[in-house]
Amino acid sequence: MAQVHVLDHPLIQHKLSLIRDEETGSKDFRELVEEVAMLMAYEVTRDFPLEEIEVKTPVATTKTKVIAGRKVGLVPILRAGLGMVDGMLKLIPTAKVGHIGLYRDPETLKPVEYYCKLPTDIEERELIVIDPMLATGGSASAAITFLKERGVRNIKLMCLIAAPEGIEAVRSAHNDVEIFVAAVDEKLNYHGYIVPGLGDAGDRLFGTK
Ligand code: URA
Repeated sequence: MAQVHVLDHPLIQHKLSLIRDEETGSKDFRELVEEVAMLMAYEVTRDFPLEEIEVKTPVATTKTKVIAGRKVGLVPILRAGLGMVDGMLKLIPTAKVGHIGLYRDPETLKPVEYYCKLPTDIEERELIVIDPMLATGGSASAAITFLKERGVRNIKLMCLIAAPEGIEAVRSAHNDVEIFVAAVDEKLNYHGYIVPGLGDAGDRLFGTK
């Protein structure tokens, strides 16, 4: 089974509590989501391989380590995934960013891709799919399937909050995808919202409610 990493660093947990609070307005919500994404990027990149280089400091020449040229792609799922991109780019500034938009077909109930623009060398990149809320797991699973159909093999999924149902759905569809979350909440409600969650992440990010 693919691993689920719950990133329970005190700073992440503190900021997540502020994000959940319904009194937090869009400006603060946006800033906090960006900050948490940045902190999460630190953990999501933990397995990046290093290589040794030589550096001349003002005092001496030394052998030291740098990331071994890994090419990263960030793929936010529209629209709420956008809120986590800038935070991640602060730590991985050379990452390329692709975008995927999905809607649910009202008849088949299956996710349909309505927008997809990806870096041209996508299949060579290590991809981090970003969606703040892993609710049913339908969109994340579909986005990962679309990426695999385009030849991508190395995919991680990063979310702020997950419902157990969403984790199970992604794990059973994509056993090879590691999932990184700041919290696993109790359940989904009848309307498909995560409980207790934070409400509608897109509306809260963009002030559309
Ligand atoms: N999407 C959201 O924005 N919030 C939820 O709780 C579930 C899905």
